[in-house]
Amino acid sequence: MTDLTEIASPVLGTLDDAGRATLFTDARTANSFAPTPVSDAELSAIWDLAKWAPTAGNSQPLRILYVRTDEGRERLLTHMNEGNRAKTASAPAVAVLAVDTRFHEHIPALLPFRPEMKDAFDADAELRTRTGTFNATLQAGYFILAVRAHGLAAGPMAGFDAAGIDADFFPDGRWHSILVVNIGHPGTNPWFGRLPRLGHEDAVRWE
Ligand SMILES: Cc1cc2nc3c(=O)[nH]c(=O)nc-3n(C[C@H](O)[C@H](O)[C@H](O)COP(=O)(O)O)c2cc1C
Repeated sequence: MTDLTEIASPVLGTLDDAGRATLFTDARTANSFAPTPVSDAELSAIWDLAKWAPTAGNSQPLRILYVRTDEGRERLLTHMNEGNRAKTASAPAVAVLAVDTRFHEHIPALLPFRPEMKDAFDADAELRTRTGTFNATLQAGYFILAVRAHGLAAGPMAGFDAAGIDADFFPDGRWHSILVVNIGHPGTNPWFGRLPRLGHEDAVRWE
């Protein structure tokens, strides 16, 4: 949009079967983790991939808190639903994904040809919340795929006390938690049985 350099129609690449398996067809939600550590460099690389996937108006409202200290992990566990606690306790790394409720403050830098969108979001709390939540959730999906692209397993969990996490980890009120993601290499018996997926007849319509 800002760079009008002429580009002849580019030919897009396709992901081969191995790549599709890594991201989709063989990828599973991990419920147990091996003790193999996950480095800060690996965790940083996840965002370096996920950040490129699209959001409305390039708004990028997702924020990530990597809980790395033992003390932080203990605090996080108190906010997890009981059935999720052991998974979060055993994962080598844990990310709290959140929406930045003031994501629009970055708009002049992120959408330089429409800086006035910042003011539009400032004036309309409902639009701001709807846009922020929808696009942060979209980015949470990208984040899970980026974890997988780095050869790691993700265990996303919505079963936690969001108000509790927010008060404890984001006391200034700006970030609101939306998902906790356990990250690591799969442990023993890491998967539940694969659940069925909807076929075209239920999920797809044509007109
Ligand atoms: C948004 C979201 C929330 C989830 N919340 C939980 C949770 O609180 N506890 C849990 O054990 N699994 C949770 N899961 C895991 C799903 O049950 C799992 O990803 C799904 O059944 C697919 O499993 P598969 O990837 O092994 O096929 C959640 C997954 C997503 C995407």
